[in-house]
Parts: sequence; structure tokens; C-alpha cells
Amino acid sequence: MVAVAILAAGRGTRMKSDLPKVCHTLGSMSLVERVLHSCLSIEPSRRLVIVGYQSKQVKQSLNAFTGLEFVEQTEQLGTGHAAQQLLPHLEGFTGDLLILNGDVPLLRPNTIKRLLETHQAHQNAATLLTAQMPNPQGYGRVFCDGQSLLKQIVEDRDCTAAQKKNHRINAGVYCFNWPQLAKVLPQLQANNDQKEYYLTDVVNYLEPVMALDVEDYQEILGINDRKQLANAYEILQTRVKDAWMSAGVTLVHPGTITIDDTVELEPDVLIEPQTHLRGKTVIGSGSRIGPGSMIENSQLGQNVTVLYSVVSDSVVKDGTRIGPYTHLRGHVEVGESCRVGNFVELKNSTLGDRTNVAHLSYLGDATLGTRVNVGAGTITANYDGVKKHRTEIGDRTKTGSNSVLVAPVTLGEDVTVAAGSVVTEDVPDDSLVVARARQVVKPGWRLKSQE
Ligand code: UD1
Ligand code: CA
Repeated sequence: MVAVAILAAGRGTRMKSDLPKVCHTLGSMSLVERVLHSCLSIEPSRRLVIVGYQSKQVKQSLNAFTGLEFVEQTEQLGTGHAAQQLLPHLEGFTGDLLILNGDVPLLRPNTIKRLLETHQAHQNAATLLTAQMPNPQGYGRVFCDGQSLLKQIVEDRDCTAAQKKNHRINAGVYCFNWPQLAKVLPQLQANNDQKEYYLTDVVNYLEPVMALDVEDYQEILGINDRKQLANAYEILQTRVKDAWMSAGVTLVHPGTITIDDTVELEPDVLIEPQTHLRGKTVIGSGSRIGPGSMIENSQLGQNVTVLYSVVSDSVVKDGTRIGPYTHLRGHVEVGESCRVGNFVELKNSTLGDRTNVAHLSYLGDATLGTRVNVGAGTITANYDGVKKHRTEIGDRTKTGSNSVLVAPVTLGEDVTVAAGSVVTEDVPDDSLVVARARQVVKPGWRLKSQE
């Protein structure tokens, strides 16, 4: 049996933020969410999160996970003190306990699996991840007997000049035999530069303790400040983009593109520069996105093009062209082979197949049939100052330029709306509606000059 505990009670002073460090986001997830995700593969029987600084906020940010146990560390007296808070909660637990720092977000699930397997195969009291770090500054240094039997961990600030030359660092990822750890946790002392109880000191009381080097040190980078957060984002992006390129996606100038690791792309998608794909976005093959576009939580079919546009929480079907300068938001559904063009905003609206809204329109809370043509500058007046109302437009209907459809209103099928109309009443199928003042022409009329 394996339990997981995540240390997430610290403030993260070096972030200089009101937000607890573990709640800062890295791509689509917070740091602590990432840590939780990385250990799902070992299917832990229990997951405990140690919270303290702004614990309410940390708990709230983990709402989506079910079955978490929160352990309060009311005063943050160090990582060892945090682990001590587990004692009453894990009383009688006889399995292994994986302890992860909440600020080490780039771990690969496989690495955690390997750590656990090594730990169990050797029946160690403790096994911890280490790495040869090119720049070990700030990390605890790991001193071993031979290659992997661990003698001591010395925090950076407690190191002598000679000890600082050791580049093998502690990742903050540990596997413990819980009954043995439980026995020694109460013996920790705070006799160090920070006057804190260090979890790392338990290695002085346990045997055997084994160190396991990770191949890719980037996996275990800890986040202590904003620079490290930005650096981690860069690493994550490289991982994600390399994977998509290997899977057959073209990224034109990858350095200018960002893709959340929650996005799914089919082969032969082409992403142009300055394009950002966020959240639960899915894009079908043959689609060409960008340059200069942002797609968020949206599903795009095959052969869709999006040029200089923003698409949020929406669905766009095969062969549809979006942009330039289109904004889809609030659950828009655009059918197949449509065209939504220049300076058009759609909100909470549905467009049937082959419908066009090509220029300068706002459609909100509207349902359009198939092959509708929305003339330039057509607007739905969907808000009466109190409530939003719906507009319905039937198949093959055409609205003239600069018409205003005052909702709630329904236009039937094959309706033609004259340009400049303000439509306030429903229009039946097969009709022409002219809802504007008739033009008046006064021949021979001229402005009288002032005398
Ligand atoms: C820690 C390790 C160091 C290791 C590094 C790896 C110790 C003493 N040192 O140092 O050897 O190289 O991580 O990233 O463990 N936390 C609590 N309660 C507390 C203090 C911290 O829950 O009282 C949590 C923090 O929220 C954070 C994690 O523990 O998620 C690590 O704390 P941090 O202060 O960042 O430790 P480091 O100095 O980085
Ligand atoms: Ca840290």
C-alpha cells in the first residue's frame, strides 16, 4: 500500500506574492495540481495534502480532485515539521509513504514509478530522488557513501564552501517506509541556520537510505521565485511542442507559440506564429490556426482556418473559416463550411452549415439555420437592460446591411431583411421585411443662405 503526502503549507516568500506559492499556475494547472497529477500513475490508496499558509485558498484550488485528505500545519516550522503533522493521520498505516514537495511540478509520472519500484525492490527505509544539477545553488546537497547509499543532506545555506561544490542535489521527492519514518520524525531538531525542522535530517536516523539519480535534471527543478516559474514554463512548453511535432503537427516558429498540455491536436494541423492554444482545446487535421490567434477550451473540426482571432468555449465544425479579427465566446457553435469574418463577435449562438457572417456584426443569444447570409453590420439587440433575449433566424434568410434585430424576435425561412431595418416583430417564411422610414426626396430644395 502506498500513500502520498504533498507538502504545500509554505508561503513561498521568494515569490513575493499574496497568493500561496503552490497556487501559482504553470500552464493550465497550479503547481500543486501538477504534483498531484504526477503521482496518479502509482494509484495511491491515500492522498494527503499538508496545507497551512492561506489553506482555504489552497484547498479551494484543489476542488476538482476527490478523496484528498487535508492536513493542517498551522505554523510553518519547516518541511520536517510539516511531515510531523502526518503522524496522527497515518496512525496504524503500515505501507510506504511518498512525500513530494508541492513546488516541484515537472516530475514525470514514470520517474515516480521508478522511485517506488527501487524503494520496494531494495526494501529501503527511505529512497529519494537526486540529480546532478549544473547550477545547484539553493538546493540541499546530497552526500553518499559509494554511489547510492546516502549519508547526509546539507541545505545550501548550511553548506561549507567545500560542500557547495557538490552538484548532486536533493529533489524533494522521497519514498519512506512509513512505520520507520514515523518512529524518527519526533526526534528532529531545528539546529540549523533557519531554525527549522528539516525533513531531510531524517536520513541521519534511518538505514538504508538510497539515492536515485534522475536522468533529466529538468524534471526536478523546484520553483522558489518567478524566474524559476518562467523557466519551468519554458521547459514544459518545449516538452509539449516537441511531442506534437513528433506526432505530425507543424509549428511555424515554435518559439512564438504556446500550447497547454491539456490540448489535443491531430496530425497535419498547422499552427502559425503568435498563436496560443489553451485549456481543453481539440483541433482536427488539416486545420490552420494563426497567425496571431488564441483558442481556449474549444473544439475545432478538420480543415478549419482561424486567422488573427480569439475563440473561447466554442465549437467550430469542418471547413469553416474564422477571421481575421473574429471573437467567438460563451458557447458558440458554428456549423460546417461557414464563414465568420472581419470584426465579428458571436456569443452564445449557433450557426447552421454554410451560414456566413462576413463583416462587422454582433450576434448574441442567436440561433441561425443553414445557408443564412448575415449582411455587414447586422446586430442582434439581445439585451433590454435587464434580461438577455434570443433571436432565431431560419434557413436561407438574408439580412441587409446595418439591420438591427431586436430580441426576442424570430425571422422565418427565406426571409429578406431590407438594409437598415430595425426588426422588432416576428417575420414569417418567404417574406421581405422593410422596417425603416421611407426615403423622402424634395426636389429643388436648397438651404437658404443667411442674410
Ligand atoms: C527543500 C529541501 C532541499 C531540496 C529542495 C528541492 C528541506 C529542508 N530542504 O528545500 O533539500 O533540495 O526542497 O526543491 O526540505 N513546506 C511546508 N511547510 C513548511 C515549509 C515548507 O509545507 O513548514 C512546503 C512548501 O510549501 C514547499 C515545500 O515544502 O512546497 C518545500 O519547501 P521550501 O521552503 O521550498 O524548501 P527548499 O528550501 O526549496
Ligand atoms: Ca523549494
